[in-house]
Amino acid sequence: MLEKLEKLFNEFTSALEKLSKEAEILNLKSEYLGKKGAISQILAGLRDCTPEEKKQLGPAANEVKNKIQELINSKLQKLEIDAINEKLASEREDLSLTDSVMASNNHHGGIHPVTLIQTEIEDIFLSMGFDILDGPHIEDEFHNFEALNIPADHPARDMQDTFWFHDPHAETDEKKFLLRTHTSTIQVRGMTSRKPPFRFIAPGKVFRCERTDASHEMVFHQLEGMMVGKDISVANLIYFMKSLLSEIFKKEVEVRLRPGFFPFVEPGFELDIKCLICSGKGCSVCKQVGWVELLPCGMVHPNVLKAGGIDPDEFNGFAFGLGLDRLVMMRYHIDDIRHLHGADLRFSEQFKTF
Ligand code: PHE
Repeated sequence: MLEKLEKLFNEFTSALEKLSKEAEILNLKSEYLGKKGAISQILAGLRDCTPEEKKQLGPAANEVKNKIQELINSKLQKLEIDAINEKLASEREDLSLTDSVMASNNHHGGIHPVTLIQTEIEDIFLSMGFDILDGPHIEDEFHNFEALNIPADHPARDMQDTFWFHDPHAETDEKKFLLRTHTSTIQVRGMTSRKPPFRFIAPGKVFRCERTDASHEMVFHQLEGMMVGKDISVANLIYFMKSLLSEIFKKEVEVRLRPGFFPFVEPGFELDIKCLICSGKGCSVCKQVGWVELLPCGMVHPNVLKAGGIDPDEFNGFAFGLGLDRLVMMRYHIDDIRHLHGADLRFSEQFKTF
């Protein structure tokens, strides 16, 4: 019997050695250790043995059973580790691959054209000595309206359809907070945090509750600019605006100045450029007039300087609010502003810069 055990064990080890699949190993296990398996049968046969034989054979059979169990466990464990290692090796990322090799397999991001143009303009203004400021999207009435010479009930509040926040804890239904309708809010923040002379720009998103069409979006981008000092004139304003536009378009662009009304500037202007999409012939972007409103601007109203803590008898200045989306549209010949936020990869991939 002992010899039979030894033979069985040897047969088992050589069978196990040849196997490499989990299912086959489990089959082998049940051939030997299963209810009707070879070892189990030997153990069951002990019943008919003499006590002497039982003493010898019992522990020996149990020992073989435990060894088989151990060998099976370690083989299964090894299989699992091999599988993990194989996966690790095959999924390894080669970080030394060059961009062009990666690009053939993967989509990767690019810079949004509004961001592109914004950084370019920031560089132009930085080189002309301007600071770059930022401000919150959620604003109060003071910064969006009052400090900009637009008191409550002033009809100019209706010029910009505003998204108001309703405060659920307020006792009255007075609405004090809003999504900023223009970046002019940062004029106020800029004035109160510095002493003249100063010059800064402030790019950012603005929000208006408007119907969308080819040239209007509810969320769009402006770049505010302000320069305050002594004896600043309309000629200074025009100089800065023209230098900016010719840098951006890399050529002289045709501009025209019209009177424009904004309560926070006096005099106020609309600076238009000749539509670069239709060269002035008329299209959906310029609403068939051939000119595009790009740069509302003007000389800062004395009331605004006062609200910013600046003495209007001593200092004056200019301000402008450049529409970044329209600028992008002019530069890249995009005929519908809605493409800019459309999240269509076919559109954005055209601006990949790396
Ligand atoms: N804030 C104005 C608007 O959004 C633009 C503007 C800015 C006009 C600065 C004049 C001076 O319509």
